[in-house]
Amino acid sequence: MQVITTVQEMLDACANWTASETVGLVPTMGYLHEGHLSLFKQARAENSVLAASIFVNPTQFGPNEDLDRYPRDLPRDLRMLEDCGVDLVFTPTVAEMYPPGFSTFIDPGGTLTSVGEGASRPGHFRGVATVVLKLFQLIRPHQAYFGQKDAQQVAVISRMITDLNLPVSLRILPTYRENDGLAMSSRNAYLTPENRAASAILYKALRAGQQACENRVPDGPAGVVRIMQEIVAGEPRAALDYAEVRDPATFLSLEHLQAPALLLIAATVGATRLIDNFLLRADGTWEIGLKSAPVEQKKGNLS
Ligand code: PAJ
Repeated sequence: MQVITTVQEMLDACANWTASETVGLVPTMGYLHEGHLSLFKQARAENSVLAASIFVNPTQFGPNEDLDRYPRDLPRDLRMLEDCGVDLVFTPTVAEMYPPGFSTFIDPGGTLTSVGEGASRPGHFRGVATVVLKLFQLIRPHQAYFGQKDAQQVAVISRMITDLNLPVSLRILPTYRENDGLAMSSRNAYLTPENRAASAILYKALRAGQQACENRVPDGPAGVVRIMQEIVAGEPRAALDYAEVRDPATFLSLEHLQAPALLLIAATVGATRLIDNFLLRADGTWEIGLKSAPVEQKKGNLS
């Protein structure tokens, strides 16, 4: 596995891709968990070259956010990537990605960035779009892999690919969950045991929202939102930021319950902000993610 830290080395490595190769890229901020690994496993199966990036991107963090304490463990991440059969890891410094004088940003606009995470985290998607475009330019992947966990990020990147005619196809994979339903996230490391237990409330609220959709709750999206709000209100450790029903591509709010739709939730538990979503696909089926198998099941049948 090649570990590359400079822009020049990365450009040189990508000049060596041959025409017959397909290059898959999984961009990450590191501190890898099983959710990330599911992207690597899929990407490994679908590409001849598998590239990863590990870069805690400062431009997508707000001034009062957790950039400084974002969890990091590069040696452990590199071991995990090696085990996944990654060929190349790009792990640049901040100065490599944003040298002095850096001043060109991608500015995704419209409803997509004025609601949800865009409203709660001003400038977040500007930072995400800028770094992802830079990674696409540097690594030149044919396919890039992202998690449905960050549904609005998926919509922003997908819009950017369309708007800027980028020659990369997007592969979106389901949300990996802990056994109680909590979506895996590097930020779960911040949670105390009590807050960790309380965090399953986001999944419970989404489950209740899904039920409400299936039961055709009388006042449509507003009724679904009310049910999700009530569930979170029952957990004193959780403070709801938003519960919403939106179009998965445009993030416009929906007046009527119709497919496709995204049930979105964001809440702070202790000091940790968590997000999650369920997707009702256009064909009426749900994408709610996958629970990782309990350890005993992973070992196989011992009897
Ligand atoms: P990060 O939070 O490290 O996530 C990297 C990728 O893993 C994202 O596409 C994210 O959606 C996906 N992911 C995270 N948790 C997941 C889970 N439980 N199941 C499945 N996939 C999951 O997202 C970012 O980094 C950054 O914004 C980045 C795109 C790298 C740009 O800096």
